Amino acid sequence: MSILIKNGRIVTAAEDYIADIYVEGEQISAIGKNLKVDAEKVIDAEGMLVFPGGIDPHVHLEMPFMGTFSSDTYETGTLAALHGGTTMVIDFVLQTQGKSLRNALDQWKGRSNGNCYGDYSFHMAVTDFNDETKKEIQQFIEEEGIVSFKTFMAYKGALMIDDGQMVGLMQEVRKHGGIVTVHATNGDMIDSLIAKHRKEGKMSPLYHYLSQPEVTEAEASGRFTDMANYADCPGYIVHMTCEGALNAVRKATMRNQKVFVETCIQYLIVDASLYEEPDFGGAKWVMSPPLREKKDQTALWSGINQGLVQVVGTDHCPFKWDQKLMGKDDFSKIPNGHPAIEHRVELLYSEGVAKDKITLNKFVEVTSTNAAKIMGMYPQKGCIAIGSDADLVIFDPNEKHKLSVDTHHMNVDYSCYEGWEVQGKTKTVLLRGQVAIDNGEVKIEKGYGQFVKRNKVKGII
Ligand code: URP
Ligand code: ZN
Ligand code: ZN
Repeated sequence: MSILIKNGRIVTAAEDYIADIYVEGEQISAIGKNLKVDAEKVIDAEGMLVFPGGIDPHVHLEMPFMGTFSSDTYETGTLAALHGGTTMVIDFVLQTQGKSLRNALDQWKGRSNGNCYGDYSFHMAVTDFNDETKKEIQQFIEEEGIVSFKTFMAYKGALMIDDGQMVGLMQEVRKHGGIVTVHATNGDMIDSLIAKHRKEGKMSPLYHYLSQPEVTEAEASGRFTDMANYADCPGYIVHMTCEGALNAVRKATMRNQKVFVETCIQYLIVDASLYEEPDFGGAKWVMSPPLREKKDQTALWSGINQGLVQVVGTDHCPFKWDQKLMGKDDFSKIPNGHPAIEHRVELLYSEGVAKDKITLNKFVEVTSTNAAKIMGMYPQKGCIAIGSDADLVIFDPNEKHKLSVDTHHMNVDYSCYEGWEVQGKTKTVLLRGQVAIDNGEVKIEKGYGQFVKRNKVKGII
């Protein structure tokens, strides 16, 4: 199959120009003005932006968590992502404590293989680092193409590792050219605040927020950064929410340390006042870490512009309303997570570019290019260049529309963003040279999405 995309405004992390893109098979084979080629299909992109397919490096599909499973499957989640301009996601495999990494990977492969519409990869979450799991690290990096290892400094008893395990893992990952990522919050402090609030009978969603004050994230982010510096290992802090945590990692830039920061779209655009929504409405926003204050949004936007925050993901971890109701009488039982995989690109364009908070190039950097670089997939993914995968979004920057449960494709029976007016719409999406979505219509089959083996990051980042 060959496709010619004509006269689009091509935007990458570094460039912005009008030209044609010629796609042959799965890759881009030429870029230029008035390309004279024979194409089986021609797409007129005049007046449209054309940017690299979005990469969301933080999603949880069909994940067993808090006594239930996140409600988007690999099928529904990757399809919803494509509708919104995200062509690739990175999901998390969770090791069961006491078992091997391989044991968990096999389970995750069983759920995902052949079921994805969009491309995907896995981070391996190490929840029990010991002499046995240590041996698996090299194998994961070199044979599986899984180069990022996730850690949790919270969720004690299920996912959390201690600082000794953290440093041991960092040393092993560093040796083999990978990267350690982290949910950086102080689990012990949070657990004691949860216990205190429950003892006092404070059971509403607001107390989820009040059990995870900013200091719990700032302290853990600083501690993680220091441990990564000690182990000389590249680090990546997921879902950063606040000014205190951002300030705690500033020291990494002073000492020329590789610590990357991801925030998520929700932390940039909504705040903690939502925990007081009536009728248990605050449960929609129960996620960890929680939403923060307006001053934190300001800090995150400026962190993006300063280059201190490199990635905007979603931490997409959807639960249907009856699942959220598991915590009706006790906030600590509300499954943590919110649905956003479909809306990240459009919301960031609308709230960031259209409102002049970030440039178009920065938008491409944080929605696609930086994730590809940091996670070992560049320039296969995350750019528009000859030889790169033809993962392309053709986007109307002017079309306005409203987000709603009635029109979204995620497997959730409410929208956190119900009625939110967005400027900019994903019109056509190409994934490895195939039109995947065109004006809301799906043009590929389930199973088209492929697992992407990633490269060692050593020497790249
Ligand atoms: O609330 C969240 N974030 N749920 C998913 C698990 C995690 O901590 O990322
Ligand atoms: Zn987390
Ligand atoms: Zn997460």
